[in-house]
Amino acid sequence: MAKKIVVLISGSGSNLQALMDAERQGQLGSGTITLVVSNKKGAYGLTRAAEASIPTHVRTLKEYKDAGKTREDFDRELAEYIEESQHPDLIVLAGWMHILSPAFVDRFRGKIINLHPALPGELDGAHAIDRAYSEFKAGERTKTGVMVHFVIPEVDKGKPILTQDIPCLEGDSLEDLENRIHVVEHQILPKAVKLVLEDSLDLN
Ligand code: GRF
Repeated sequence: MAKKIVVLISGSGSNLQALMDAERQGQLGSGTITLVVSNKKGAYGLTRAAEASIPTHVRTLKEYKDAGKTREDFDRELAEYIEESQHPDLIVLAGWMHILSPAFVDRFRGKIINLHPALPGELDGAHAIDRAYSEFKAGERTKTGVMVHFVIPEVDKGKPILTQDIPCLEGDSLEDLENRIHVVEHQILPKAVKLVLEDSLDLN
């Protein structure tokens, strides 16, 4: 039976694209993307989803703030919407730039995964690539990496599913490093989705 995947994005959606391509090529196992949610109206990932005829949903925190509602309201109501409309098997945060509170996370424990451009225990939070590059330039690191991990309320702290080291190379510009990281992200995310859906993880 098909397993439903909901993908949350905020921007360009190149990782969403990697997932859509993987699904088309039969590389997500029984996984199928049934909905793409964005918290930004102009996110290019919405166009990518529409081109692939995948339903989209936009919900911004600003609408909530303007209506006098809280961040928890946003998270709780978004969780309800996703649960009721999709009954998802998996929620993938693919460049979703909004920290989800327990009002969302607790509802889908073990069913939400996040892509983060850093290795476990390093560079948690925003601007991880910029910070890795600055540390490399300061002689404080020679590699960084990418991970896909389960989401818990502590940002970027959940159990890793897949990780990959990425060397920082002599002569790298920030853009060079970023490009190499994105290539790896696009490879690792579909693999992690398949693993989680197949429940074939050895996390011990
Ligand atoms: C990725 O680098 C992801 O790791 C980070 O945001 C970026 C999203 O890129 N958190 P895209 O929207 O998938 O192109």
